[in-house]
Amino acid sequence: MGYLSIDTISTAGQVLREVPGGAALYAALGARAAGGKVCITACVGEDYPAAWRDRMAALDIDVSGIRLKGGPTRRARLAHLPDGVRLSAHHDEMDWWERTDSLAPDVDAAPDVDYLILAPMPPGMAFRAARAATCPVIADTSAAFARRDPGAVMSLVTQLACFAPSLEESRILLPGLPDNSALRYLAASGPDVVQKRGAAGMAVCASEQGLVRLVRAPAVAEVDPTGAGDATVGALAVGLANGLSLRRAAEQAAEIGARTVTDHGPAALGLTWHRASCGSAS
Ligand SMILES: Nc1ncnc2c1ncn2[C@@H]1O[C@H](COP(=O)(O)OP(=O)(O)OP(=O)(O)O)[C@@H](O)[C@H]1O
Ligand SMILES: [Mg+2]
Repeated sequence: MGYLSIDTISTAGQVLREVPGGAALYAALGARAAGGKVCITACVGEDYPAAWRDRMAALDIDVSGIRLKGGPTRRARLAHLPDGVRLSAHHDEMDWWERTDSLAPDVDAAPDVDYLILAPMPPGMAFRAARAATCPVIADTSAAFARRDPGAVMSLVTQLACFAPSLEESRILLPGLPDNSALRYLAASGPDVVQKRGAAGMAVCASEQGLVRLVRAPAVAEVDPTGAGDATVGALAVGLANGLSLRRAAEQAAEIGARTVTDHGPAALGLTWHRASCGSAS
């Protein structure tokens, strides 16, 4: 459950426009790659290409929960700089926040699933979805949502079976705490916690144990890191739904996170699209 978007992605020397994106897409593809039976709950605007929905369906993803609403789809502008810095220019755009409200998924209609993945969404919205859910819930957040309302994200955490922030997000939520301490603090408030650490892999802490363990990422050549976090969370949900331990589920998810970065956009997870526009970054 979350958002789908139309992305512009800049990586070293290259800009790709009109790329299928959104955390809900990457989470679904990650879950599918882990062998899950997946359905997406999201809303898109009138400009969302029908062909992209068809490609998802061809990957055996249930797209019947993707609803069409008036106005445009959310558009994200992502830039991955050579030093590892990631910029999300859309977070500064009024349109993006307006579309976030207008294209909110139906959080009160608990989907009939074994495990619910809440891709990054405003934390109050995620809280409602988690409260409505009749199954375990895993959630991720984004730096933008964590910065806007860290208290609301902390309230959401108490409702979850698993929380999977990135290192940057856990630093925003718990400023000043060393990373492992932040992980333990979050786990002490209820859920299992997975702290995503990019190419270094993940640190995991099961709620009842308070013990931090590192899960290494397989070494791969990174082409485009877009969506790796979301795909990882999708894969993690499948492992947990299948009864794997947190550590084993994280190891399986790390394979899929690594795979995600090996090609542009969602291509490495099998979702190919007509590349309408591809130019140099200059
Ligand atoms: N270069 C890489 N090589 C191997 N694995 C990677 C690489 N980058 C990311 N991963 C895997 O994917 C996981 C999630 O990536 P990351 O930590 O970038 O999440 P994120 O910050 O939430 O990303 P995003 O929100 O952009 O999808 C990592 O924990 C790691 O296991
Ligand atoms: Mg992320």
